[in-house]
Amino acid sequence: MLEGEAEAPSNIAIVKYWGKRGDPKLNLPLNDSFSISLDALKVKTRVTFDKSLMKDEVIINGKKLPEDKTVEYAGKVLNKLREISGTKIYAKVESYSNFPESAGLASSAAGIAALTLASAKALGLSLDTKELSIIARIGSGSACRSVFGGFVIWHAGTSDKGDDSFCESMFPYDHWEELVDIIPIFSEEKKQVSSRQGMKLTTTSSALLKCRLDFVNNTFTDVIESVKNRNPQRFFQLTIRHSNSMHAVMLDSFPPLIYLNSFSLDVIRAFGDGNIAGYTFDAGPNPHIFTLRKNLNVVKETLDKLGAKKIIISGISPGPRLDGF
Ligand code: PMV
Repeated sequence: MLEGEAEAPSNIAIVKYWGKRGDPKLNLPLNDSFSISLDALKVKTRVTFDKSLMKDEVIINGKKLPEDKTVEYAGKVLNKLREISGTKIYAKVESYSNFPESAGLASSAAGIAALTLASAKALGLSLDTKELSIIARIGSGSACRSVFGGFVIWHAGTSDKGDDSFCESMFPYDHWEELVDIIPIFSEEKKQVSSRQGMKLTTTSSALLKCRLDFVNNTFTDVIESVKNRNPQRFFQLTIRHSNSMHAVMLDSFPPLIYLNSFSLDVIRAFGDGNIAGYTFDAGPNPHIFTLRKNLNVVKETLDKLGAKKIIISGISPGPRLDGF
């Protein structure tokens, strides 16, 4: 039996990935993206390659995934790593997240990154972080950024094969210690349209998409500079604008994609000036609100008034660990 363990952080994109190019199976993005790895949201995974298994098995938080989901969730990463190592042995994957699945927070990025790292370790493969991020990307686009801690850039690349679409660390986790992510949970509903289906709808129907891609390209360096210089106002404003820009093309898709709800709109109204905080929403209604530690209580009070059921506070993750258990 070959066994490997790893723990990987979730990540939240500041410059977001929404729309694929080329072969959809390769998860090649239309634009570069930039994310922050989160210390409070992590997934631990143990992978065991075992000759007695007749197929791959995935158990998430004690619950066995049905076969179709196993293939969809883990199959691409496991097959790629089996191909590299020249083995045909199936694997048992046991994953645990340290946050409730029902909170509506995407755990797939952390889960796929942990699966990639644990499987590569189990198979004794010495792959560098660039190669690992490419393999995690095949499992799920946003997962490639969770191979790193701190502030991470995902280069979109131009190749149809995806060998230049990988991630690297831009700044370490302790670059901006004052920065904190507040995640209020307003809704625990599962999203109705997956990001895979949603991205396809946007790329095939949104007339605003081209405009968004220009905006991303024109402001990407400004986002990096705002983090490099630890400029909170500039960072908050750009974070807000990049989130709004993604949700604008979602709404502009046909039929429209609406991931935000009335609580999300209240958050946008409360923090939209970008003075003390900057919000960002993924494909769901719960925001990530970045602020400085000194503003934590003010932001939390506002969120309590808006009806947050639960609030998670996260610092920035130093990155994955290979001794997760
Ligand atoms: O999780 P994926 O790879 O299917 O894509 C999710 C994309 C967003 O979370 C909405 C934005 C991003 O860049 O993470």
